[in-house]
Amino acid sequence: MTLPKAFMDELRARVPLSSVIGKRMKLTRAGREFKGCCPFHKEKTPSFYVNDIKSFYHCFGCGVHGDALGFLMDYDNLPFKDAVEQLASLAGMQVPKPTREEEQKFQRQMSLYDLMDAAAKWYEHQLHDKKNKKILEYLIERGLNLDTIKTFRLGFAPDGDELKKFLEKAGYAFEDMKEAGLFKESERKKGEVYPFFRARVMFPVQDFQGRVVAFGGRVMPESHGGPPDKSAPKYINSPETSIYHKGKMLYGLSRARKAIGDGETVIVVEGYMDVIALVQAGFTGAVAPLGTALTEAQIEEIWKVMPEDKRTPVLCFDGDNAGLRAGSRAMERVLPILKPDHSVKFAFITEAKDPDDLIKNHGRSAMQKVLDQAISLFDMMYLEEAKERNFAQPETRAGFRFALEKRARTIADGAVQQFFIHEINQRINKDLLSGSSDRPQRTQRQGHFFKGKVLPPNAHTPVRPMSKKPPPLKGNVSKLLREKVLIATLINYPQLFDEFAEQLGMVEVPNADYDQLRQELIRFLGGGYDNQESDRIYLDDQAVKQHLIESGYGKILEALFDKSLYIYAGFAKPGQPLELVRQGWLEAYSRGQEKARWKKA
Ligand code: UTP
Ligand code: MN
Repeated sequence: MTLPKAFMDELRARVPLSSVIGKRMKLTRAGREFKGCCPFHKEKTPSFYVNDIKSFYHCFGCGVHGDALGFLMDYDNLPFKDAVEQLASLAGMQVPKPTREEEQKFQRQMSLYDLMDAAAKWYEHQLHDKKNKKILEYLIERGLNLDTIKTFRLGFAPDGDELKKFLEKAGYAFEDMKEAGLFKESERKKGEVYPFFRARVMFPVQDFQGRVVAFGGRVMPESHGGPPDKSAPKYINSPETSIYHKGKMLYGLSRARKAIGDGETVIVVEGYMDVIALVQAGFTGAVAPLGTALTEAQIEEIWKVMPEDKRTPVLCFDGDNAGLRAGSRAMERVLPILKPDHSVKFAFITEAKDPDDLIKNHGRSAMQKVLDQAISLFDMMYLEEAKERNFAQPETRAGFRFALEKRARTIADGAVQQFFIHEINQRINKDLLSGSSDRPQRTQRQGHFFKGKVLPPNAHTPVRPMSKKPPPLKGNVSKLLREKVLIATLINYPQLFDEFAEQLGMVEVPNADYDQLRQELIRFLGGGYDNQESDRIYLDDQAVKQHLIESGYGKILEALFDKSLYIYAGFAKPGQPLELVRQGWLEAYSRGQEKARWKKA
């Protein structure tokens, strides 16, 4: 039964939700809302809120939410039709008679849900049938346990027309099977019909209420009796139907909503297998879009089920270029819909292909680390805008600020936009307007881009915008000169020490004098001399040189800073833009790393 939207809106507006609910349970006023102990789960302190203005109830304990109709259906256990009747009589309204067509459509939808559920049960049954032992083995080999397989109702669709026979016997119309996307008419042979999913592992997709509305089907790998690699698409997915809306639903959400309501981190991953692997590893807030990029509507769905003060799901992407691009597009899509206390974070997986592989090969803790290192939406925007720029000229720096502000202006919410613009200016002042003589403040932990990849942030990695051109470390620099450059640069720019300390610690210096100098530098800047942390940040190059001279390194220092040094490494000179220095240092460092890898191989 589909009723006109205007009627439904009027119905909701006429009867305050609190009066409907207040007749059935105790509610007390809480500011502009009402609250009470949730009737849908056991609790002692109220986390069930009723909002008359929005005509909505929400439980922060178990995540249930809905309107007056939903409440009557769930609490009084009424079918939709009766709930409407009851509410209409409270409101003094007449329920418009549905047209025959509307009535049929409603009946049809109801039978589609039944049909999809019957199909899901049948697929499940096939997976556990002895004759399909190989398929179950494949899933087990992939690391899934039987509980997981059951929770997600995984199944198997064999080739052939057994499903059709089964469903017909159970009384379903073939028209409905086609409408649900389970069967398709052949394009080549008119009138011929074949099952859409053949010889595939089946992933039922459930809507918010947990009803099966669609399927994804994965081909079996060649090693397990599947077709030769790449001759068939790895996944196929049900088409859109009257009960399946890809852009608005999320895989796993009906199962995850309770955990999410309890404050579990929401992790948005690419698809079925990633969600399943995450949930099995204990990350119960995992969800995924359905074969397309994450949409605004899906983000809104996620925010809705999250506790009010924690609406920041982590969007998880692969660490390759495609993953980065996807992350960047998601960032652009979220900006316009940001609201106070609503955001997203970005995590990138660099040590494996996807979350599934990461957990399989490196365990749960590796995934936790990825989540801990997620970067904020603001940082994502900043890094994305910075990564292809060069900061050598004042006008290019101004261009950077301009581009960031342009992005911020896509934010529709005025307050959020204002704070973004403010933050942009603060960040730019810190990162770009501080010449070498200024002392940049330590910034928060962040990930950073390097050579088109996102690297996991180190403990003290400030934002590091990258310019396009490789830095000016020229020619075939001798090994020793490279080590000298690495040390000298950090003496001139002690503010970069925290960022590169770990790498400096691993540099092999062939010359004993310089190696001692390196060690002394690490001791001094690394806090071995009890420098207060706050002092250390503000140490300038003069203070460092002073200390080295006093410690007996005067001669070595002179040799280090001989004239040739800057010919090869202009960026190491005092007074360079900090960005150039950073890049130069990293480039010099990574050259050595390449060689080291060579030697090992
Ligand atoms: P993969 O290509 O890694 O799929 O897709 P897979 O089944 O894990 O294959 P292998 O064994 O690693 O080669 C990445 C993610 O995207 C999902 C997959 O389930 C997986 O979680 N996916 C892919 C979908 O959800 N829908 C699709 O149409 C395609
Ligand atoms: Mn995979």
